Amino acid sequence: MEEVWVAGAAMNKFGKMSETGREAAAKVSLEAIQGAGLQPKDIEYTFVSNCFGVAERQAHVGPLINTALGIPQVPSATIESACSSSSAALHEAYVHVAGGFLNAALVVGVEKLSHMETLAATSYFAMGSDYAFEARNGATFPGLYATLASAHMHKYGTKSEQLGAVAVKNHQNASGNPHAHFQKPISMDTYMNSAPIAWPLKLYDCCPFSDGAAAVVVLNPARFRHDVPITPAVIRASTRAGSIAALQDRPDLTALPASHIAGEKAFKQAKVSPKDIDFSEVHDCFTIAEVLAMEDLGFYPKGKAAQAAAEGQTAVDGATPINVSGGLKAKGHPVSATGAAQVVEVFEQFNGHAGKRQVKDPQWALAHNVGATGGSCSVHIFERK
Ligand SMILES: CC(C)(COP(=O)(O)OP(=O)(O)OC[C@H]1O[C@@H](n2cnc3c(N)ncnc32)[C@H](O)[C@@H]1OP(=O)(O)O)[C@@H](O)C(=O)NCCC(=O)NCCS
Repeated sequence: MEEVWVAGAAMNKFGKMSETGREAAAKVSLEAIQGAGLQPKDIEYTFVSNCFGVAERQAHVGPLINTALGIPQVPSATIESACSSSSAALHEAYVHVAGGFLNAALVVGVEKLSHMETLAATSYFAMGSDYAFEARNGATFPGLYATLASAHMHKYGTKSEQLGAVAVKNHQNASGNPHAHFQKPISMDTYMNSAPIAWPLKLYDCCPFSDGAAAVVVLNPARFRHDVPITPAVIRASTRAGSIAALQDRPDLTALPASHIAGEKAFKQAKVSPKDIDFSEVHDCFTIAEVLAMEDLGFYPKGKAAQAAAEGQTAVDGATPINVSGGLKAKGHPVSATGAAQVVEVFEQFNGHAGKRQVKDPQWALAHNVGATGGSCSVHIFERK
């Protein structure tokens, strides 16, 4: 297997985009390519994620992005795995470069839905669940994650204030992130008094609907000269796993098995353990999802992660920094861009460009990206070169 580097990574400010998805995707792609010291002509394949392109009446956006980059002859493919789409695209790129089939590939994720009302966007997103049994019976994603939260509360005594600690921390981290959708810290009072969305989840337990684009360039370092002043992120593990999609078919609602399986495989592949990881970007579409991820990935025993968050252990300067970017909760969640944006955070941290949210001298980082309620999951582990 060839060594695979993330040599360039770029994203725009998440929130509301005035430009189209294809324009935003081309812009961040060019930034990532140039940041890696490459030119568009060096890219041999573009792996695109754009789950809800139809909301802009645009499918098959890859050739449009490549055309804007001046490389219309380069092949592209759209990879869809719900909210884990661009990490699935990164996995495909990794496999091709590690296997020696490609020297350099572009991964780009983009989503634009802010022109839709909340109800319409919620209905679109619900198509990522088991439509026949969940969405058609009224179970939206806030409702499904609320079900997971209430099961966790019932089994482990998890409290609203502990979920609130996750929200307060992530909004705090996002306040130091110029890419973030929300850049204002919130207090525990603001969290506790926020509107109920789906019991037990309140407004500040939920990620927002965000527009955004993020791109990552992966390459085989043996094939390129490196004369750009960047610190690459070496991909030491790239794993994926699946599990039963619909909640009603699962034996246990207090864990996401796909996270556990992908995480175990990743630690084995990278030959490290959770205690070696200096910071993690995990899939916190709702605060309970961050708690589940911390437990499923093995950072904390089952039932202990929410308390760890409440004790500040997962803050930027804590023992186990989690979602230093602000996470999906506060940085925002433009579904198809999220997995790639997690890698942008890893790249910025490794290059010392994370400003107020900089983790001290990170060597190892983990990115965890879930599709829907855990029907699919990707885990990547990176080492700073
Ligand atoms: C929580 C949710 C229902 C709120 O939607 P809404 O009630 O229509 O909210 P609006 O868009 O009208 O925004 C109202 C205010 O709340 C803020 N807001 C919206 N969503 C927010 C969120 N998730 N967190 C914090 N603030 C939020 C808006 O910025 C706005 O603030 P302002 O009045 O200061 O401008 C919506 O964000 C949601 O469904 N999020 C989950 C998305 C999802 O399921 N993603 C897939 C995950 S698997």
